[in-house]
Amino acid sequence: MEIRIDRDEDIDSWKEVTLIYNSALKQISTKLEILNDEFQHVHRYNPIEHIKSRIKTPESIVKKLKKHGYESTINNMIRYVNDIAGIRVICSFSSDIYQIAEMISNQEDIKVISVKDYIVNPKASGYKSYHMLVTVPVYLSDRIADTKVEIQIRTVAMDFWASLEHKIHYKFEGNAPVHIKEELVECAQMVSELDARMLALNEEIQNIERKALEEY
Ligand code: GTP
Ligand code: MG
Repeated sequence: MEIRIDRDEDIDSWKEVTLIYNSALKQISTKLEILNDEFQHVHRYNPIEHIKSRIKTPESIVKKLKKHGYESTINNMIRYVNDIAGIRVICSFSSDIYQIAEMISNQEDIKVISVKDYIVNPKASGYKSYHMLVTVPVYLSDRIADTKVEIQIRTVAMDFWASLEHKIHYKFEGNAPVHIKEELVECAQMVSELDARMLALNEEIQNIERKALEEY
């Protein structure tokens, strides 16, 4: 690891930083689980399929700092690397994404720093997902550390696409053959169509269920 930790106090602060980011991830995960449980109670279904979280490796933190021309120090990583703590929320339907995003934004202790809606504005690659950069307070013994967490919310279909695209991107170090890139863009369009049709089907089923209940 190239982050400068040649002194004991640096090792201590690196450990503290990791502890804080891990705590922030735990808090956001718990909040999401509570929202999911409550949603199940009220609406009789779970908007969240599953949640994945990770702490960025020191190697990729250093790589990112270098890419942006910053020295590898702990202060710089806290200030400039926004995705040290990352959480991915996978939903069934695109409508769930916005509901979850809204429920998260409405929580008083969470501050939304920025939002990138790659569903309304997909990337040139075809990438679709809803990104939120938030801070959550982590209560330590002697202070409160407002900690950044990157939340990515996407459907199962979007996640399927993103995983394969990521693998291909990695394999070709960003220079995949043109026909593969074009195929991926086409698949991304199919993902959008699939998401739209599945959503419509689900709404139709819900309407039938609702009517049956009313007539009961
Ligand atoms: P990074 O430097 O990659 O973090 O990008 P950024 O700071 O411009 O943020 P952005 O919101 O665009 O992307 C953050 C994260 O979204 C990435 O680390 C990936 O996990 C994911 N992502 C963004 N673009 C793509 C893409 O084209 N394909 C895939 N598979 N994932 C993407
Ligand atoms: Mg990233």
